[in-house]
Amino acid sequence: MHILVINGPNLNMLGIREPDVYGRTTYTQLCSRIEDHAVLRGVSVEIYQSNHEGDLVDRIQAAYGRADGIVINPAAYTHTSVALLDALKAVALPAVEVHLSRVEERESFRQISYVRAACLATITGHGIDGYLEAIDLLLAEVNGHDR
Ligand code: DQA
Repeated sequence: MHILVINGPNLNMLGIREPDVYGRTTYTQLCSRIEDHAVLRGVSVEIYQSNHEGDLVDRIQAAYGRADGIVINPAAYTHTSVALLDALKAVALPAVEVHLSRVEERESFRQISYVRAACLATITGHGIDGYLEAIDLLLAEVNGHDR
C-alpha cells in the first residue's frame, strides 16, 4: 500500500509559525513522525509540500495509478480551492482531510472546506497525531475493500 501525504502553504513553517496555534514541532519532525508510523504499519509513504495551488493539483493528479490513498492538509487552500476538490474527485482515491488545529472553533472564513466533499473523513485538532490517524483510516478503508 502506498500513501501520498500532501501539505499545503505555510506548513513548511511549522514550529516557527504561530506556535500557540500549530505547536512547536517542526515540519521535518512532522515528516519523521509520519515516516516512522508508515514503517510501523508496513506501508510506503511519500510526503509532499508546496505553497502553490497548481503544484498541489499536479501532485494529486500524479497519484493516479500510483497511490492507494491520499492524506491531505490543504492548509489555507482548504477554504478557497475548488481546483483541489476537483483534482481529488478526478483521481477518485480514498482521501482523508487533516488539520492540526480545530478549524471549526476558529474564524468564520475557516468554516468552509471545499476538499471535504471528496474526503471520506476529516480529522481536526489532533496536531501531528491527526496525520497518523489518517493513515490508519486509509489502511482500514483499503483493507476493508480487499476483503
Ligand atoms: C490548517 C488550518 C487552516 O485554516 C490554515 O490556513 C492552515 C493550517 C491546520 O492544519 O490547522 O494553514 O490547515
